[in-house]
Amino acid sequence: MPRIAVLPGDGIGQEIIPEALKVLKVVLSQSQKEFTFQEYAIGGTAIDKFGKALPEDTLKACQEADAVLLGAIGGPKWDTLPAMERPELGALLPLRKELNLFANIRPIKIIPALLSASTLKEEIVKNVDLVVLRELTGGLYFGEKGRTTEPAAAYDVLVYTEEEVRRIVELGFQTAQGRKKKLCSVDKANVLESSRFWREITEDVAKKYPDVELTHMYVDNAAMQLVRYPEQFDVIVTENMFGDILTDLASMLAGSIGMLSSASMAGKKGMYEPAHGSAPDIAGQNKANPLATILSAAMMLRYTFGLNEEATRIEKAVIKVLDQGYRTADLAKSTEKVTGTKEMGDAVVTALS
Ligand code: IPM
Ligand code: MG
Repeated sequence: MPRIAVLPGDGIGQEIIPEALKVLKVVLSQSQKEFTFQEYAIGGTAIDKFGKALPEDTLKACQEADAVLLGAIGGPKWDTLPAMERPELGALLPLRKELNLFANIRPIKIIPALLSASTLKEEIVKNVDLVVLRELTGGLYFGEKGRTTEPAAAYDVLVYTEEEVRRIVELGFQTAQGRKKKLCSVDKANVLESSRFWREITEDVAKKYPDVELTHMYVDNAAMQLVRYPEQFDVIVTENMFGDILTDLASMLAGSIGMLSSASMAGKKGMYEPAHGSAPDIAGQNKANPLATILSAAMMLRYTFGLNEEATRIEKAVIKVLDQGYRTADLAKSTEKVTGTKEMGDAVVTALS
C-alpha cells in the first residue's frame, strides 16, 4: 500500500494539511484506492516536543515513505535559536538534502475566476501558464557558511557541481518538451562565475534537445520580465536562491501565494508542499488558504503515483469552488464574502462529489 508521511509542521501548516488530507481521502475512496497516511512532527512543533527540528523518526519515515506531504515550518517563537537549530536550517533544508529532492517544480497558471485577484492587470496575466524549475539542494543554501572576526564578516558560498547543474537542466529540457518547448535558463552570468559555469553546461545539454528553444536571461531582467510580459515564459530553470525569489514574485501573477503548489522531486519520489510559509500572523484563526496544499496533493497523485485522472479531479474541483465564488481572505476583494480554511476544504470536497 502506498505510504505517505504527513508533516503538518508549524503555524497554518496545522490547518491546511487536514484540508488536503480530507480532499485526498475522498478522491482516493472514489477510485477505490487505499493509501496510508502517518503524521510526524517537524519544525518548531518538533523542537517543542522532541527538542529537535528534524527528529530521527521523522527523517526515517520520510525516507521510507513513497511521498511526503508537508505543510509549512518556522515561526517567530523559534527565530532566536542558533541558526542551524531553527526549523529552516535544522529541518527543511536537511530534509530536502537527505531525500535528494533536487528538482522543485512550481507551476503558475491562471485560473480564470481569479484573474481579477492578481495585483497585475488582467491583460498582462490572462495567458500566463509557466513552470519554474528551481534547483533545490545546491547553491547558496547549502554552501559553506560562517563568520570571521577582524574584520567582522560573514559568508555563504555559492557552489554548483557540474552534475548538479546537468540534472536539473536536463529536467528543464524534458519538462519543456512536454509543453511549449521553450526553456529559459535564468542566471547572473554577467557577474557570477557559478552562473557562467551553469550557462556552459546548459548550452552543452541543449545539444541533446534540438526541438527545445533555449534562451538565457539574467535574474534581474527575469524579475522585470515576469511582471512586464509573463506570457513569454514556458519553462524557467534556475538555481536555488534565484528560484526562491522568482517563485514568490511569480505566484502573484496567479492571484496569491496561497495558490502556489510545489513538488520537490527525486525521480518518482517527492515531497509536496505549498510554496508559502507558516504565516504565524494568521495561524490558528481558520483564515489560511488551503488550496496551494490541496493542489500540491494533486501533484503528488500525478507525479509520484501516476494517478492523473484523480489529480485532474482535484484540480477541477478547485476551479469549480473558485467559479462558485468561494474566496479565502488572501483572494477576496473587500466586497466579497470571505471563506474560512475549513469551509474552503469542505467546498472542494463537495465539488468532488
Ligand atoms: C520556500 C521557502 C523556503 C526556502 C524557506 C522556508 C527556507 O521560502 O520553499 O520557498 O527558502 O526554500
Ligand atoms: Mg520561498
